Amino acid sequence: MASLIAVTIFTLITSGIVAADKPCAPRQIEKRSVVCVCNATYCDEITRAEPASGKYVAYTSSEAGSRFKKHEGEFTSYYKWNEGASHTLVIDLSKKRQTIEGFGGAVTDAAGIHWSNFSSARLQDYLINSYFGKNGLEYNMLRVPIGGCDFSTHFYAYNELPWNDGQLTNYTLAPEDFNYKIPMIQHIKEVATADIHIVATVWSPPKWMKTNEKPSGPGVIKNEFMQTYADYIAKFIREYKKHDIDVWAVTTTNEPQNAFLPFTRFQDLGWTPGKMGQWIINNLGPTIKNSSDINHVKILTVDDQRFTIPLWFNVMVAKHPEVLDWIDGIGVHWYTDKFTPAFILEETVKNHPDKFVIATEACEGSMPWQTEKVSLGDWSRAQSYIHDILEDLNYNLVGWIDWNLCLDKTGGPNWVKNFVDSPIIVFPENNEFVKQPMFYAMGHFSKWIPRGSVRLDVEEQKGLLEKSVDHVAFLTPRNTIVVVLHNTGNARNIRVQLGEEHTVLALEMASVTTLEFLAPSISS
Ligand SMILES: *[C@@H]1O[C@H](CO)[C@@H](O)[C@H](O)[C@H]1NC(C)=O
Ligand SMILES: *[C@@H]1O[C@H](CO)[C@@H](O)[C@H](O)[C@H]1NC(C)=O
Ligand SMILES: *[C@@H]1O[C@H](CO)[C@@H](O)[C@H](O)[C@H]1NC(C)=O
Ligand SMILES: *[C@@H]1O[C@H](CO)[C@@H](O)[C@H](O)[C@H]1NC(C)=O
Repeated sequence: MASLIAVTIFTLITSGIVAADKPCAPRQIEKRSVVCVCNATYCDEITRAEPASGKYVAYTSSEAGSRFKKHEGEFTSYYKWNEGASHTLVIDLSKKRQTIEGFGGAVTDAAGIHWSNFSSARLQDYLINSYFGKNGLEYNMLRVPIGGCDFSTHFYAYNELPWNDGQLTNYTLAPEDFNYKIPMIQHIKEVATADIHIVATVWSPPKWMKTNEKPSGPGVIKNEFMQTYADYIAKFIREYKKHDIDVWAVTTTNEPQNAFLPFTRFQDLGWTPGKMGQWIINNLGPTIKNSSDINHVKILTVDDQRFTIPLWFNVMVAKHPEVLDWIDGIGVHWYTDKFTPAFILEETVKNHPDKFVIATEACEGSMPWQTEKVSLGDWSRAQSYIHDILEDLNYNLVGWIDWNLCLDKTGGPNWVKNFVDSPIIVFPENNEFVKQPMFYAMGHFSKWIPRGSVRLDVEEQKGLLEKSVDHVAFLTPRNTIVVVLHNTGNARNIRVQLGEEHTVLALEMASVTTLEFLAPSISS
C-alpha cells in the first residue's frame, strides 16, 4: 500500500514536470470571455512542447474560454476525403519572406509604477515571468520612453534646467528611471529567454528646445538646438548603458504629426518632413552612426500612423534622399490601421528593400467612441490585435510591439487622462492582476515565432463563398513550421498541407490557434 502511494505520488510529480502547464484561473466576465487571475500564490503558465516527427502540437485560445489549450495530432501522407475540410492552406517552402525581429510591450512609467507597487515579490515575478519567462510569452522586445510620455504622472524631460543649456551640462535621469523603469527592465533581462531589443523614443525634449516652449502643441526644435536634441538622445543611450541596459534602436520622435493636430493634449514635438530630413542627415545620423560607442544603435523614423508614410516619409526621402544613408527602418503605430490600407507598407518595403518596418505601438480603448477604456474579458479586443498582427506580418513587418505592459482598472495613470486598455490589468487592492484576452493574443505569436523566423507563403484553397481563415506561416530557427490561424466565425475544420502531408485541424468558434510541426529535412 505504502509503495503504491509512493508510486502514485512519484507519477504525479513526474507527470507534473513533463506537462508543466499551469492552467488559467478563469474569472468569467458577464457577457464577455474570461480573464485569467494571478495572485501571490498562483499564476498560469504555458510551456512549448517539442513536436515529434509526423505530429503537430497546437495551442488554442477562444472566446469560449480556452487559453493555450494544447492538443496534438498527426500528419498523414494519404488524402482522406471524409474529414469535412473543404478549405486547405498549402504551405510553400520555396520562397522566404521577411526575418522576424520580435514581439514585446512597453515599460512606461505607468507600467513600472504598478509593477513596483505590488506588495508581494511573487506577484512582481509572476508579471515579468508571464511576459518574458520560459513559461510565459517569451517577449524579446521592449519600447521605453526617453523621459516622460502621457503614461507618466506629470510632464518631465531631462535637463529641464538650466534654460537654453545647449551643452546639456545638467543631464540626469529622472526618479522614474531609477525607481520604476530601470529596475523593471533589469528584472526582465534576468528572466528573458532571448536578448531584449529595446526601442527608445522621445515624446518631448525640455521645453526650452522647442519654439513654443510648452509640453505640447505646434512646437518644433529651435534651429540653434538641432544638434542638442541629437545629443539628448545619445546621452540617454549612454546613461542606460551605465545600468547595463542596451538600447537596440532609437526612433526619431514619437508621432511627429501630433503637434499639428488640434486635439493633442500630451507631450509632443512637431517635425516637417524637410526639417526632419535635415536633422537626420546633419545631426542625429552622424551623432549615432559616426560615434565609436553607440554606432550599432539603429535609427527608426516615422514612429507614427501608417498613413504618414506616403504623406510624410516619402516626402522627406524625396527632399533629402541622403536620409536613407542613416536610417535602418520605419516604426508604425496601429491607431488608424482600420481606416488605412496595408498595401502602403508593401510599397515602402519594395521601394527600400534594405529597410525594415516594425510596429512600435498599439493599444485598444484609445478611440473617443470607446467609452469603456478598460474592457475586462473582451474577446473582440483580442481579435483586433490578432487581425492587425496577422495583417502586418503578411505585409512584411518584422515585429510588433504592444503599448503599456500593465495598467490599472481605469487604464492609467496618465497625466492627461488619455486612458486605454492593456493585456494585463492590476488590482493592487486585491493583491492580484488579470490577464486579458489580448495577453493570449500576443502570446500566440511571440512564444512560437522566435527572432530569426522567416515568413513562408501560404496558398489558401477554398470554395468561392467560403469565408477565409486569416493566417500566417513561419519557418523557425528551431527548424519547425509555425502557422497561426484566426477563426472569427463558427467552429470549422481546416486542412493544412505541406508537400504530400496533410492534417485536418478542428478550429473552435471564435478562436486563435498556433500550430507547430517539424520542417521536412529536405527543405533546409
Ligand atoms: C490564488 O489563486 C488560487 C487559484 O485560483 C486560489 O486557489 C487561491 O485561493 C488564491 N489565493 C488568494 C489569497 O486569493
Ligand atoms: C539641474 O537639474 C536639477 C533637476 O534635475 C535642478 O534641480 C537643478 O536646479 C539644475 N541645475 C541648474 C544649475 O540649473
Ligand atoms: C561620418 O562618417 C563617414 C564615414 O566614416 C564620413 O564619410 C562622414 O564625413 C562622417 N560625417 C560626419 C558628419 O561626421
Ligand atoms: C499601490 O497599492 C496599494 C495597495 O497595496 C493601492 O491602494 C494603491 O492605490 C497603489 N498605488 C498606485 C499608485 O496604484
